[in-house]
Amino acid sequence: MKPELSNYRGREQTYFKHLFLGNYLIQCGIKVGSRADSFTYIEGFSGPWRNESQKLEDTSFSIALSRLREARDTVKKTFGRDLRLRAYFIEKDPEAYRRLNAYASEQRDIEIKTKRSTFEESISEAVAFAQGGATSNFTFTFVDPTSWRGFALRRVSPLLSLKWSECLINLQTGFIKRFITIRESHQSFLELFDSSEPMEVVLGLAEDDREEYIIREYARRVHLAGRFDYDSAAVVPRPDKERIQFHLIYLTRSRKGVSAFKDAEKSMVEEMPGIRGRAKQRRRVEQSGQQEFQAMAETPSLYLDRIAARCRGAAWKQIQQEIEKSQRLPYDRAFDIAMTYPLVWEQHLKEWILENSSIVIDGLGPKERVPKIGKGHALRLK
Ligand SMILES: C[S@@+](CC[C@H](N)C(=O)[O-])C[C@H]1O[C@@H](n2cnc3c(N)ncnc32)[C@H](O)[C@@H]1O
Repeated sequence: MKPELSNYRGREQTYFKHLFLGNYLIQCGIKVGSRADSFTYIEGFSGPWRNESQKLEDTSFSIALSRLREARDTVKKTFGRDLRLRAYFIEKDPEAYRRLNAYASEQRDIEIKTKRSTFEESISEAVAFAQGGATSNFTFTFVDPTSWRGFALRRVSPLLSLKWSECLINLQTGFIKRFITIRESHQSFLELFDSSEPMEVVLGLAEDDREEYIIREYARRVHLAGRFDYDSAAVVPRPDKERIQFHLIYLTRSRKGVSAFKDAEKSMVEEMPGIRGRAKQRRRVEQSGQQEFQAMAETPSLYLDRIAARCRGAAWKQIQQEIEKSQRLPYDRAFDIAMTYPLVWEQHLKEWILENSSIVIDGLGPKERVPKIGKGHALRLK
Protein backbone atom coordinates (compact mmCIF):
# COMPACT_ATOMS: atom_id res chain seq x y z
CA MET A 1 0.00 0.00 0.00
CA LYS A 2 1.18 3.48 -0.86
CA PRO A 3 1.47 6.15 1.85
CA GLU A 4 -1.61 8.39 2.08
CA LEU A 5 -0.67 11.58 0.20
CA SER A 6 -3.09 13.79 2.17
CA ASN A 7 -0.88 13.28 5.26
CA TYR A 8 2.02 15.02 3.52
CA ARG A 9 0.63 18.43 2.55
CA GLY A 10 3.52 20.89 2.39
CA ARG A 11 6.13 18.16 2.91
CA GLU A 12 5.70 16.08 -0.21
CA GLN A 13 9.44 15.36 -0.23
CA THR A 14 8.74 13.09 2.75
CA TYR A 15 5.98 11.38 0.76
CA PHE A 16 8.55 10.63 -1.97
CA LYS A 17 10.98 9.28 0.60
CA HIS A 18 8.36 7.07 2.25
CA LEU A 19 7.01 5.85 -1.08
CA PHE A 20 10.52 4.96 -2.13
CA LEU A 21 11.39 3.26 1.17
CA GLY A 22 8.25 1.13 1.15
CA ASN A 23 8.60 0.14 -2.51
CA TYR A 24 12.22 -0.81 -2.02
CA LEU A 25 11.71 -2.73 1.23
CA ILE A 26 8.96 -4.97 -0.09
CA GLN A 27 11.11 -6.04 -3.03
CA CYS A 28 14.19 -6.38 -0.87
CA GLY A 29 12.31 -8.36 1.80
CA ILE A 30 10.96 -10.85 -0.75
CA LYS A 31 14.34 -11.34 -2.45
CA VAL A 32 16.22 -11.66 0.82
CA GLY A 33 13.49 -13.85 2.31
CA SER A 34 14.15 -16.58 -0.23
CA ARG A 35 17.48 -17.17 1.55
CA ALA A 36 17.57 -15.39 4.92
CA ASP A 37 15.96 -16.60 8.12
CA SER A 38 15.81 -13.14 9.65
CA PHE A 39 15.58 -9.58 8.34
CA THR A 40 16.88 -6.89 10.69
CA TYR A 41 15.79 -3.32 10.00
CA ILE A 42 17.77 -0.58 11.73
CA GLU A 43 16.78 3.07 11.66
CA GLY A 44 19.14 5.72 12.97
CA PHE A 45 16.94 8.82 13.10
CA SER A 46 13.54 7.27 13.59
CA GLY A 47 11.19 10.08 14.56
CA PRO A 48 8.22 10.46 14.59
CA TRP A 49 8.79 13.86 13.09
CA ARG A 50 6.20 16.27 11.71
CA ASN A 51 3.73 13.45 11.19
CA GLU A 52 0.01 14.11 10.63
CA SER A 53 -1.53 10.70 11.08
CA GLN A 54 -2.77 9.87 14.59
CA LYS A 55 -1.85 6.25 13.98
CA LEU A 56 1.66 7.26 12.84
CA GLU A 57 0.98 5.82 9.39
CA ASP A 58 3.07 8.58 7.81
CA THR A 59 6.28 7.67 9.62
CA SER A 60 9.16 5.76 8.15
CA PHE A 61 9.15 3.13 10.92
CA SER A 62 5.47 2.33 10.44
CA ILE A 63 5.82 2.20 6.64
CA ALA A 64 8.94 0.04 6.87
CA LEU A 65 7.28 -2.45 9.21
CA SER A 66 4.08 -2.72 7.20
CA ARG A 67 5.94 -3.28 3.91
CA LEU A 68 8.21 -5.84 5.57
CA ARG A 69 5.14 -7.65 6.90
CA GLU A 70 3.82 -7.80 3.32
CA ALA A 71 7.17 -9.19 2.19
CA ARG A 72 7.08 -11.77 4.99
CA ASP A 73 3.61 -12.94 3.84
CA THR A 74 4.79 -13.23 0.23
CA VAL A 75 7.88 -15.16 1.32
CA LYS A 76 5.67 -17.60 3.17
CA LYS A 77 3.32 -18.05 0.19
CA THR A 78 6.05 -18.23 -2.45
CA PHE A 79 8.87 -20.09 -0.76
CA GLY A 80 7.10 -21.66 2.21
CA ARG A 81 9.67 -20.00 4.47
CA ASP A 82 9.20 -18.14 7.74
CA LEU A 83 11.08 -14.84 7.65
CA ARG A 84 11.68 -13.49 11.15
CA LEU A 85 11.40 -9.68 11.26
CA ARG A 86 13.42 -7.64 13.72
CA ALA A 87 13.87 -3.89 14.14
CA TYR A 88 16.06 -1.52 16.11
CA PHE A 89 14.94 2.11 16.27
CA ILE A 90 17.07 4.97 17.58
CA GLU A 91 15.67 8.41 18.41
CA LYS A 92 17.31 11.22 20.38
CA ASP A 93 14.39 13.51 21.19
CA PRO A 94 12.60 12.46 24.45
CA GLU A 95 9.05 13.21 23.29
CA ALA A 96 9.52 11.63 19.88
CA TYR A 97 11.12 8.65 21.59
CA ARG A 98 8.14 8.25 23.92
CA ARG A 99 5.78 8.05 20.93
CA LEU A 100 8.09 5.74 19.04
CA ASN A 101 8.44 3.42 22.00
CA ALA A 102 4.68 3.36 22.62
CA TYR A 103 4.16 2.41 18.97
CA ALA A 104 6.86 -0.25 19.11
CA SER A 105 5.41 -1.87 22.22
CA GLU A 106 2.11 -2.44 20.36
CA GLN A 107 3.77 -4.48 17.59
CA ARG A 108 3.49 -8.06 18.73
CA ASP A 109 4.69 -9.95 15.68
CA ILE A 110 8.09 -8.28 15.28
CA GLU A 111 11.03 -8.30 17.65
CA ILE A 112 11.66 -4.58 18.25
CA LYS A 113 14.20 -2.77 20.35
CA THR A 114 14.16 1.01 20.74
CA LYS A 115 16.86 3.27 22.08
CA ARG A 116 16.67 6.86 23.30
CA SER A 117 20.06 8.09 22.24
CA THR A 118 22.04 9.48 19.36
CA PHE A 119 22.73 7.29 16.36
CA GLU A 120 26.49 7.54 16.74
CA GLU A 121 26.35 6.45 20.38
CA SER A 122 24.18 3.47 19.48
CA ILE A 123 26.38 1.91 16.81
CA SER A 124 27.90 -0.90 18.86
CA GLU A 125 24.49 -1.81 20.29
CA ALA A 126 22.96 -1.75 16.79
CA VAL A 127 25.73 -4.05 15.53
CA ALA A 128 25.13 -6.42 18.46
CA PHE A 129 21.38 -6.37 17.76
CA ALA A 130 21.97 -7.24 14.09
CA GLN A 131 24.31 -10.03 15.10
CA GLY A 132 21.62 -11.40 17.42
CA GLY A 133 19.48 -12.37 14.41
CA ALA A 134 19.44 -15.81 12.79
CA THR A 135 22.70 -17.33 11.52
CA SER A 136 21.44 -16.34 8.10
CA ASN A 137 20.46 -12.74 8.84
CA PHE A 138 20.20 -9.75 6.50
CA THR A 139 20.49 -6.22 7.88
CA PHE A 140 19.09 -3.07 6.26
CA THR A 141 20.07 0.26 7.84
CA PHE A 142 18.23 3.50 7.10
CA VAL A 143 19.93 6.74 8.15
CA ASP A 144 17.47 9.62 7.96
CA PRO A 145 18.82 12.81 9.56
CA THR A 146 17.65 16.39 9.07
CA SER A 147 21.18 17.69 8.43
CA TRP A 148 24.65 16.32 7.62
CA ARG A 149 25.49 15.93 11.28
CA GLY A 150 25.23 12.91 13.56
CA PHE A 151 26.51 10.10 11.33
CA ALA A 152 30.26 10.62 11.20
CA LEU A 153 31.57 8.12 8.68
CA ARG A 154 34.26 6.69 10.92
CA ARG A 155 31.86 6.17 13.81
CA VAL A 156 29.13 4.44 11.79
CA SER A 157 31.49 2.23 9.77
CA PRO A 158 31.11 -0.89 12.00
CA LEU A 159 27.41 -0.95 11.13
CA LEU A 160 28.06 -0.45 7.41
CA SER A 161 30.59 -3.28 7.43
CA LEU A 162 28.16 -5.96 8.64
CA LYS A 163 28.55 -8.96 6.35
CA TRP A 164 25.19 -9.33 4.63
CA SER A 165 23.84 -5.83 4.82
CA GLU A 166 22.71 -2.78 2.91
CA CYS A 167 22.36 0.85 3.79
CA LEU A 168 20.20 3.76 2.67
CA ILE A 169 21.31 7.25 3.66
CA ASN A 170 19.33 10.44 3.31
CA LEU A 171 22.01 12.93 2.28
CA GLN A 172 20.74 16.47 2.70
CA THR A 173 22.40 17.72 -0.47
CA GLY A 174 20.49 21.01 -0.52
CA PHE A 175 21.91 22.05 2.87
CA ILE A 176 25.31 20.48 2.27
CA LYS A 177 25.83 22.47 -0.90
CA ARG A 178 25.01 25.68 0.95
CA PHE A 179 27.16 25.07 4.03
CA ILE A 180 30.11 22.98 2.87
CA THR A 181 32.24 26.02 2.10
CA ILE A 182 31.55 27.76 5.40
CA ARG A 183 34.49 27.71 7.78
CA GLU A 184 32.39 27.18 10.94
CA SER A 185 30.99 23.95 9.47
CA HIS A 186 34.40 22.52 8.61
CA GLN A 187 34.62 20.07 11.53
CA SER A 188 31.15 18.63 10.93
CA PHE A 189 31.91 18.03 7.23
CA LEU A 190 35.24 16.50 8.15
CA GLU A 191 33.29 13.99 10.23
CA LEU A 192 30.74 13.36 7.48
CA PHE A 193 33.37 12.51 4.85
CA ASP A 194 36.12 11.40 7.22
CA SER A 195 38.36 13.70 5.17
CA SER A 196 38.84 17.40 4.53
CA GLU A 197 39.56 16.83 0.84
CA PRO A 198 35.94 17.22 -0.39
CA MET A 199 35.72 20.68 1.14
CA GLU A 200 38.84 21.76 -0.75
CA VAL A 201 37.73 20.19 -4.05
CA VAL A 202 34.29 21.82 -3.87
CA LEU A 203 35.88 25.27 -3.69
CA GLY A 204 37.42 24.73 -7.12
CA LEU A 205 34.18 23.55 -8.75
CA ALA A 206 31.55 25.58 -10.59
CA GLU A 207 28.29 25.93 -8.66
CA ASP A 208 26.51 23.53 -11.03
CA ASP A 209 29.08 20.76 -10.60
CA ARG A 210 29.14 20.81 -6.81
CA GLU A 211 26.02 18.77 -6.18
CA GLU A 212 27.08 15.89 -8.38
CA TYR A 213 30.56 15.88 -6.89
CA ILE A 214 29.17 15.84 -3.32
CA ILE A 215 26.89 12.85 -3.84
CA ARG A 216 29.43 10.85 -5.83
CA GLU A 217 32.24 11.57 -3.42
CA TYR A 218 30.11 10.76 -0.40
CA ALA A 219 28.84 7.51 -1.98
CA ARG A 220 32.42 6.57 -2.91
CA ARG A 221 33.63 7.08 0.64
CA VAL A 222 30.75 5.14 2.25
CA HIS A 223 31.25 2.41 -0.37
CA LEU A 224 34.89 2.06 0.69
CA ALA A 225 34.24 2.39 4.43
CA GLY A 226 31.61 -0.37 4.40
CA ARG A 227 33.41 -2.45 1.75
CA PHE A 228 30.27 -2.49 -0.36
CA ASP A 229 30.25 -3.67 -3.99
CA TYR A 230 27.74 -1.24 -5.51
CA ASP A 231 26.30 2.17 -4.84
CA SER A 232 23.57 4.29 -6.32
CA ALA A 233 21.63 7.45 -5.60
CA ALA A 234 18.12 8.78 -6.15
CA VAL A 235 17.27 12.45 -6.19
CA VAL A 236 14.38 14.10 -4.34
CA PRO A 237 13.66 17.71 -5.32
CA ARG A 238 11.77 20.28 -3.27
CA PRO A 239 8.08 19.82 -4.05
CA ASP A 240 7.34 23.49 -4.74
CA LYS A 241 10.69 24.81 -5.96
CA GLU A 242 13.16 23.92 -8.68
CA ARG A 243 15.79 22.86 -6.21
CA ILE A 244 17.22 19.61 -4.83
CA GLN A 245 16.21 18.76 -1.29
CA PHE A 246 18.10 15.52 -0.70
CA HIS A 247 19.53 12.40 -2.28
CA LEU A 248 18.94 8.85 -1.10
CA ILE A 249 22.32 7.15 -1.23
CA TYR A 250 22.20 3.38 -1.48
CA LEU A 251 24.97 0.90 -0.73
CA THR A 252 24.74 -2.81 -1.36
CA ARG A 253 26.62 -6.01 -2.03
CA SER A 254 24.10 -7.23 -4.58
CA ARG A 255 23.59 -6.26 -8.20
CA LYS A 256 19.99 -7.46 -7.90
CA GLY A 257 19.65 -4.98 -5.04
CA VAL A 258 20.68 -2.21 -7.44
CA SER A 259 17.94 -3.27 -9.87
CA ALA A 260 15.38 -3.22 -7.05
CA PHE A 261 16.61 0.23 -5.99
CA LYS A 262 16.20 1.46 -9.56
CA ASP A 263 12.65 0.04 -9.75
CA ALA A 264 11.75 1.89 -6.56
CA GLU A 265 13.33 5.07 -7.95
CA LYS A 266 11.30 4.74 -11.15
CA SER A 267 8.00 4.38 -9.24
CA MET A 268 8.86 7.44 -7.17
CA VAL A 269 9.89 9.56 -10.16
CA GLU A 270 6.67 8.70 -12.04
CA GLU A 271 4.67 10.39 -9.28
CA MET A 272 6.81 13.52 -9.10
CA PRO A 273 5.42 15.70 -11.92
CA GLY A 274 1.78 15.53 -10.74
CA ILE A 275 2.55 15.99 -7.04
CA ARG A 276 5.08 18.76 -7.61
CA GLY A 277 2.73 20.52 -10.04
CA ARG A 278 0.00 20.64 -7.39
CA ALA A 279 2.44 21.74 -4.64
CA LYS A 280 3.73 24.55 -6.83
CA GLN A 281 0.20 25.63 -7.70
CA ARG A 282 -0.74 25.71 -4.00
CA ARG A 283 2.28 27.92 -3.31
CA ARG A 284 1.36 30.31 -6.15
CA VAL A 285 -2.22 30.60 -4.89
CA GLU A 286 -1.06 31.21 -1.29
CA GLN A 287 1.34 33.91 -2.43
CA SER A 288 -0.93 35.72 -4.89
CA GLY A 289 -4.32 35.08 -3.31
CA GLN A 290 -5.57 34.33 -6.86
CA GLN A 291 -7.37 31.06 -7.49
CA GLU A 292 -6.24 29.01 -10.50
CA PHE A 293 -7.89 26.37 -12.65
CA GLN A 294 -6.87 22.90 -11.53
CA ALA A 295 -5.50 22.17 -14.98
CA MET A 296 -2.81 24.80 -14.43
CA ALA A 297 -1.15 22.42 -11.96
CA GLU A 298 -0.26 20.26 -14.95
CA THR A 299 2.14 22.85 -16.39
CA PRO A 300 5.16 20.72 -17.21
CA SER A 301 8.35 21.33 -15.27
CA LEU A 302 11.55 20.81 -17.19
CA TYR A 303 13.60 20.80 -14.02
CA LEU A 304 13.67 17.03 -13.51
CA ASP A 305 14.31 16.52 -17.23
CA ARG A 306 17.31 18.81 -16.95
CA ILE A 307 18.70 16.87 -13.98
CA ALA A 308 18.11 13.59 -15.81
CA ALA A 309 19.91 14.87 -18.90
CA ARG A 310 22.88 15.93 -16.79
CA CYS A 311 23.07 12.58 -14.99
CA ARG A 312 22.78 10.61 -18.23
CA GLY A 313 25.37 12.79 -19.94
CA ALA A 314 27.80 12.25 -17.06
CA ALA A 315 27.15 8.49 -17.02
CA TRP A 316 27.78 8.09 -20.76
CA LYS A 317 30.92 10.18 -20.53
CA GLN A 318 32.29 7.97 -17.78
CA ILE A 319 31.43 4.76 -19.66
CA GLN A 320 32.97 6.09 -22.87
CA GLN A 321 36.16 6.97 -20.98
CA GLU A 322 36.28 3.48 -19.46
CA ILE A 323 35.88 1.88 -22.90
CA GLU A 324 38.68 4.01 -24.28
CA LYS A 325 40.91 3.25 -21.32
CA SER A 326 40.34 -0.49 -21.13
CA GLN A 327 39.63 -1.09 -24.87
CA ARG A 328 36.98 -3.63 -23.94
CA LEU A 329 34.49 -2.92 -21.16
CA PRO A 330 32.35 -5.79 -19.81
CA TYR A 331 28.67 -4.85 -20.13
CA ASP A 332 28.21 -5.75 -16.45
CA ARG A 333 30.74 -3.07 -15.56
CA ALA A 334 29.04 -0.52 -17.83
CA PHE A 335 25.77 -1.34 -16.05
CA ASP A 336 27.40 -0.85 -12.64
CA ILE A 337 28.77 2.56 -13.66
CA ALA A 338 25.49 3.72 -15.20
CA MET A 339 23.44 2.64 -12.19
CA THR A 340 25.47 4.79 -9.79
CA TYR A 341 23.79 7.88 -11.33
CA PRO A 342 20.31 9.08 -10.37
CA LEU A 343 17.62 8.88 -13.06
CA VAL A 344 19.62 6.45 -15.23
CA TRP A 345 17.97 3.10 -15.86
CA GLU A 346 19.12 0.08 -17.81
CA GLN A 347 16.81 0.92 -20.72
CA HIS A 348 18.70 4.23 -21.14
CA LEU A 349 22.03 2.43 -21.15
CA LYS A 350 20.83 0.00 -23.82
CA GLU A 351 19.40 2.82 -25.94
CA TRP A 352 22.63 4.77 -25.64
CA ILE A 353 24.70 1.76 -26.72
CA LEU A 354 22.42 0.94 -29.68
CA GLU A 355 22.33 4.56 -30.85
CA ASN A 356 26.08 4.98 -30.60
CA SER A 357 27.44 3.76 -33.92
CA SER A 358 31.06 3.80 -32.73
CA ILE A 359 30.39 1.07 -30.14
CA VAL A 360 30.49 -2.64 -30.95
CA ILE A 361 28.91 -5.25 -28.68
CA ASP A 362 30.98 -8.42 -28.35
CA GLY A 363 29.59 -11.80 -27.42
CA LEU A 364 25.98 -11.43 -28.65
CA GLY A 365 24.25 -14.64 -29.69
CA PRO A 366 22.80 -15.00 -33.23
CA LYS A 367 19.37 -13.70 -32.17
CA GLU A 368 20.58 -11.15 -29.63
CA ARG A 369 20.60 -7.45 -30.40
CA VAL A 370 21.05 -5.88 -26.98
CA PRO A 371 23.61 -6.73 -24.31
CA LYS A 372 22.49 -8.35 -21.07
CA ILE A 373 23.82 -8.65 -17.55
CA GLY A 374 25.66 -11.85 -16.67
CA LYS A 375 26.08 -13.01 -20.29
CA GLY A 376 29.73 -12.05 -20.78
CA HIS A 377 28.84 -9.30 -23.27
CA ALA A 378 31.37 -6.51 -23.69
CA LEU A 379 31.62 -3.08 -25.31
CA ARG A 380 34.46 -1.81 -27.45
CA LEU A 381 35.07 0.96 -29.95
CA LYS A 382 34.88 0.16 -33.67
C1 LIG B 1 14.03 13.53 9.54
S1 LIG B 1 13.50 13.13 11.13
C2 LIG B 1 13.12 11.44 10.96
C3 LIG B 1 11.92 11.15 10.20
C4 LIG B 1 11.56 9.70 10.10
N1 LIG B 1 12.71 8.85 9.78
C5 LIG B 1 10.51 9.54 9.05
O1 LIG B 1 10.84 9.51 7.85
O2 LIG B 1 9.33 9.45 9.42
C6 LIG B 1 14.96 13.03 12.08
C7 LIG B 1 14.77 12.55 13.50
O3 LIG B 1 16.03 12.32 14.08
C8 LIG B 1 16.03 12.77 15.44
N2 LIG B 1 17.45 13.08 15.74
C9 LIG B 1 18.11 14.24 15.55
N3 LIG B 1 19.42 14.07 15.82
C10 LIG B 1 19.59 12.77 16.16
C11 LIG B 1 20.72 11.97 16.48
N4 LIG B 1 21.94 12.50 16.53
N5 LIG B 1 20.54 10.66 16.74
C12 LIG B 1 19.29 10.12 16.67
N6 LIG B 1 18.18 10.81 16.37
C13 LIG B 1 18.33 12.13 16.11
C14 LIG B 1 15.11 13.96 15.44
O4 LIG B 1 14.56 14.14 16.74
C15 LIG B 1 14.05 13.52 14.42
O5 LIG B 1 13.00 12.84 15.05
